Amino acid sequence: MQLPATLQRALERMIASQASATLEQAAATLSNRYRTAEAGQAPAIASPLQAIAYAAWRMPATYAALRAAFRRLAEAQPDFIPSRMLDIGAGSGAAIWAAAEQWPSLRRIVAIERQPAMARIGEQLTAGADLPTITWQRSDVLSLDRLPESDLVVAGYVFGEIEPSARAILLSRLWKATTGALVLVEPGTPSGHATILNLRSELIKREAILLAPCPHTADCPLAARGDWCHFAQRIARPAFLRRLKGAAAPFEDEKFAYLIAARRGQPLTGGRITRHPIIHSGRIELQVCTAQGLQQITVTRSQGEAWRRARDSGWGDGWDSYPSLDRGNSEGK
Ligand SMILES: C[S@@+](CC[C@H](N)C(=O)[O-])C[C@H]1O[C@@H](n2cnc3c(N)ncnc32)[C@H](O)[C@@H]1O
Repeated sequence: MQLPATLQRALERMIASQASATLEQAAATLSNRYRTAEAGQAPAIASPLQAIAYAAWRMPATYAALRAAFRRLAEAQPDFIPSRMLDIGAGSGAAIWAAAEQWPSLRRIVAIERQPAMARIGEQLTAGADLPTITWQRSDVLSLDRLPESDLVVAGYVFGEIEPSARAILLSRLWKATTGALVLVEPGTPSGHATILNLRSELIKREAILLAPCPHTADCPLAARGDWCHFAQRIARPAFLRRLKGAAAPFEDEKFAYLIAARRGQPLTGGRITRHPIIHSGRIELQVCTAQGLQQITVTRSQGEAWRRARDSGWGDGWDSYPSLDRGNSEGK
């Protein structure tokens, strides 16, 4: 995956306007503050320099995770054609770019961001780009009782920054505003997954349809064994990011946890592959989350269709059940 060319050029122009040592310092400080922040206590990005540092350091990765989650939504509901989107905690606008790539049908986007410096950078990056009409609202989303009704509602890397005691009320407002689908993305860490799990329980109480990643509404079998559900998306690192991170690798893998809840649609039948398939010669091992718990499935070359399917499947993909395989495989909770 790559950043959209227009976004990459806009980021390059913005970054070129800063002295590189100053930007490197600001990015390192920001990254350190994020690493050490308590739940609900993320650093306030209050200055233009900090906002540019965020966009340079984190936006490619958050764009990648959001784009991957949107692909899962489009896969689960190919006839979902949103025209209105609400993005809360929009930051520098990663979700806007990712959604516009996925759904050319989008016409209007409301982006709510409490830090004026971040909203300003988001606005500058999107200025003149071929994107839907965007209204940037500089507000604390918690202070808004009513949010605009939207086909697609997105909270990308935001709930972790919301005081835990305020999360349920915010979620209920977001769900109320959702006419189509609500997409929640958090870091792919144990704490990011714990945040998603709490939101998941609230959405199940509201009878939301979970489209992804969960193929069921039972307790999370990964959490039950002290593991956490997360996925990864690879994205090409632009030259500015390699310089900023002092990293030679031309890509990075963003780990993320996510949840897609919808007003209509069918949950995944079968299960979801919850880690990289392990490939041996003539044998592939899959870990699949299903309504019956976590299954360790082994597919061998002699198993025809299932083998071909396993060979083409990756971490995060859906997995149909193959009765002949399921009988022979162990099930772990
Ligand atoms: C980690 S950034 C994520 C930005 C963007 N969604 C992305 O994925 O790159 C979180 C953003 O949420 C904003 N935010 C946090 N709490 C907020 C609130 N109560 N109201 C509005 N924005 C908020 C922060 O200012 C920050 O810009």
